[in-house]
Amino acid sequence: MSHEKIKELIDLRAKAKLGGGEKRIESQHKKGKLTARERIELLLDEGSFEEFDMFVSHRSHDFGLEKETYLGDGVVTGYGTVDGRLVYLFSQDFTVFGGSLSETFSKKICKVMDQAMKVGAPVIGLNDSGGARIQEGVQSLAGYAEIFQRNIMASGVIPQISAVFGPCAGGAVYSPALTDFIMMSKENSYMFVTGPKVVKTVTNEVVSEDELGGAMVHASKSGVTHFVADTEQEGILLIRKLLSYIPQNNLEDPPLAPCIDPIDRLEESLNDIIPDNPNKPYDVKDVIHSIVDNHEFMEVHRHYAPNLVVGFARFNGTSVGIVANQPKYLAGVLDINASRKGARFVRFCDCFNIPLVTLVDVPGFLPGTAQEYGGIIIHGAKFLFAYGEATVPKVTVTLRKSYGGAHDVMSCKQLRGDINYAWPSAEIAVMGASGATSVLYGRQIKELENDPQEQANFIANKEQEYNDKFANPYVAAKFGFIDDVIVPRNTRFRVIRALQALATKKDTNPPKKHSNIPL
Ligand code: HXC
Repeated sequence: MSHEKIKELIDLRAKAKLGGGEKRIESQHKKGKLTARERIELLLDEGSFEEFDMFVSHRSHDFGLEKETYLGDGVVTGYGTVDGRLVYLFSQDFTVFGGSLSETFSKKICKVMDQAMKVGAPVIGLNDSGGARIQEGVQSLAGYAEIFQRNIMASGVIPQISAVFGPCAGGAVYSPALTDFIMMSKENSYMFVTGPKVVKTVTNEVVSEDELGGAMVHASKSGVTHFVADTEQEGILLIRKLLSYIPQNNLEDPPLAPCIDPIDRLEESLNDIIPDNPNKPYDVKDVIHSIVDNHEFMEVHRHYAPNLVVGFARFNGTSVGIVANQPKYLAGVLDINASRKGARFVRFCDCFNIPLVTLVDVPGFLPGTAQEYGGIIIHGAKFLFAYGEATVPKVTVTLRKSYGGAHDVMSCKQLRGDINYAWPSAEIAVMGASGATSVLYGRQIKELENDPQEQANFIANKEQEYNDKFANPYVAAKFGFIDDVIVPRNTRFRVIRALQALATKKDTNPPKKHSNIPL
């Protein structure tokens, strides 16, 4: 072969690598953004990237587009490794037609998704795009739908992770929304179905891009994004870390990490963490950090519904999903947002064989018209459904309160909780003492209306009586709903043993087309 031919290839590659050209790369950098290829370099193990379809270009002849073609057509696709494990990816290149999606652009993405499904490897999408390529019209819409269909088929089979590092608007938002996790960078990224201009025209509301769909908005208000990163670099490292907790596909177990943290490490502080006053908060994250391997916890949805904490950690090297009520925020009550957050996380873990460890301290569901009108019944049912449907090992530790319907939701024994422990501070009952007293003794309390002192004494006595009888773990333990009452400092050891015992657990649901979770 003549060297000319090899040179031609090298030149073409160099051209493709420039995307939309040096000027546009410079403009991307000026905005504080990395290019599509720089992002890939950061994400993958060094030298592991194998690119597909570098020579693909669009086929459009409208709007003079035939005179403007770029090798690769605005998206860089292929596969590589993260910590030695295979991943497929696509990275949208804003320097080519603003990263907008054409027919061929879509085909490139579909190709990596199809291959990832065949071999059982995660797909990571790095989004930075002006949406449908306007010149291509319906071809572009069809291209999106081809991707959506693949997102749907891949759901629960291979992990799908999206990062948003620039615009992601219109129907384009739905591909990330169909994936398992979304990560947004604080600067430059936004997601919305309709942008500020349309909002102004239709509703007269004036709002900036950031206020409408910036990273913090989606992290704290809508819950659309699971993670926010200060910089793109930090975001990419986050994705690498997230991958370390999850398996390649639904037929594999999550990777086992070496564990140097002693499994029998006692945490004396846990014996004193629950305040004497049951209405006083503490931080459940302190409990989580003290029991998991190396005190490492990767929180998911940190800014959304902080009354429920969810995230990944390890026990003796085994990946687990942790779900914990957070007494520090709204007393750890379950509301609509917490229920949606919890349900989604539990279902992810169940799809991908990640055992669930649940830490319970829940006073009940949040009362009020806002919650009822918003459908707390349906959203609470989601969370309940997710736990009841899950067949992965489920280990539960009740730290303090576990009241009413919320007790049932939080991985109770009858929702196929496998091993349910409680600390001696646990209070497992239908409701708290003051609610119970007001219902059971309402008439007597009313009769004492004219003597407030007597009334207060009566209530205090009845509450004490109720607490003595029910505010403990032993009533539930008597019925076998709690398998054992454990000393708090032993929690790490007991959870690890439980997970070891459950490592070979097999449980199934009846055959069906799919369930009808209350959406
Ligand atoms: C074709 C596009 C494009 C698009 C941007 N460009 N968006 N080309 N189709 N959708 C091109 C620009 O012409 C420009 O080309 C280059 O990309 C960079 O764009 P700028 O506007 O200069 O960049 P910036 O100021 O950063 O603004 C970025 C932007 C803006 C906010 C994304 O470009 C924009 O509003 N684009 C249109 C967004 C949109 O309405 N998309 C369709 C949504 S509907 P040059 O040659 O100058 O570099 C949709 C439906 C999907 O997506 C449905 C799926 C079901």
